[in-house]
Amino acid sequence: MQRREIAHGGGLCHGWKGHSHFAHFYSQMNQPIMRQMKAIRIHTYGGPEQMQLEDAPVPACGANDLLVRVVAAGVNPIDWKIRAGAMAHGLPKAFAVTLGWDAAGVVDAVGGSVTTFKPGDEVCFYAEFARGGTYAEYVAVDASQVALKPRTLAFAAAAALPMAGQAAWTALVDNAKIERGMRVLIHGGAGALGSVAVQLAKDAGLHVIATASGDGVALVRSLGAEEVIDYRSQRFQDHARDIDVVLDTIGGPTQEASWGVMKPGGILVATAMPPPPERAAAAGVRAAFVFTPPRGAVLAQLAERVDAGRLRVLVGQEFALADAAHAHRLGESGKARGKMVLHINAPRV
Ligand SMILES: NC(=O)c1ccc[n+]([C@@H]2O[C@H](COP(=O)([O-])OP(=O)(O)OC[C@H]3O[C@@H](n4cnc5c(N)ncnc54)[C@H](OP(=O)(O)O)[C@@H]3O)[C@@H](O)[C@H]2O)c1
Repeated sequence: MQRREIAHGGGLCHGWKGHSHFAHFYSQMNQPIMRQMKAIRIHTYGGPEQMQLEDAPVPACGANDLLVRVVAAGVNPIDWKIRAGAMAHGLPKAFAVTLGWDAAGVVDAVGGSVTTFKPGDEVCFYAEFARGGTYAEYVAVDASQVALKPRTLAFAAAAALPMAGQAAWTALVDNAKIERGMRVLIHGGAGALGSVAVQLAKDAGLHVIATASGDGVALVRSLGAEEVIDYRSQRFQDHARDIDVVLDTIGGPTQEASWGVMKPGGILVATAMPPPPERAAAAGVRAAFVFTPPRGAVLAQLAERVDAGRLRVLVGQEFALADAAHAHRLGESGKARGKMVLHINAPRV
């Protein structure tokens, strides 16, 4: 294959002729042009109606970046929270903003300092919040945030893993420091984050209790939970006792009722709503709000577990990129079953 230098939105990347859409242009002209792609962008915060499928420049590929041709993007609750402006203070954005933070795709080009990946590699990642932009045909991402796609997963499932998987890891391994024999209560065990957490905890030898509803109850049992409480028909606080670790992916009354089921000195790790420190102190336990940094090394460990058959990734409804607003509506309604994914490019050029 022939190696050539390609300008992407101002950056300089190395790509392989056989894998680059753009090589064709460069075989015909000598000077860089600003290439365009399709992307779902917003120009102001608001409802799903703000999401426009439009032309946008292919992002710049910096020296430490990969330019990835996106095959599938995961849809996360944070996506609609950012779209609605709920994170505008913590994560201010300059419009236009391309939505999306999870993706799986094929490396199209690499920055000059990148030695860990090459064009043609199949990868997945969760992009840092300052950049994001995975609801698009191309995205630039720091190579340290990327892992090779699990061999045994299709791109859609690989796009469902990175943010939820790394959040579960950060909560249980980094924050809660889980150990064999502990008792863990995982709220939302059938959700994207909770389903990974149930499997990580089971794999580490914990006694796993989870909440879910409807057919999620059997699903979570099949992932290895010893006890599953249907939160729609039962009060978890009537069943769960002596808990070392609560993973609260819900917040509100669920978090409030969790303090009373914990062992003294236990820890509540929350992903949806920051736990008040004074509430934890009153209950004689510790509390942490999970902040999940994108880490390729953690994602690679999750991918290894997937390929070893130790971690299942659940995918729910799948949509075309143009239907991203529909996915947001469904997600915000609380009626989505399972992790939603957008299909963007075909796996092969
Ligand atoms: N802080 C971080 O770094 C971080 C990272 C990732 C995600 N998050 C946050 O974590 C939360 C979960 O994310 P996700 O991707 O797992 O969402 P998800 O896939 O939509 O899952 C949510 C789950 O919650 C369940 N649920 C709803 N109400 C419940 C209740 N009262 N009790 C128990 N379970 C309930 C739902 O079950 P049913 O379908 O049966 O109702 C669903 O399975 C979101 O708020 C997200 O923004 C934070």
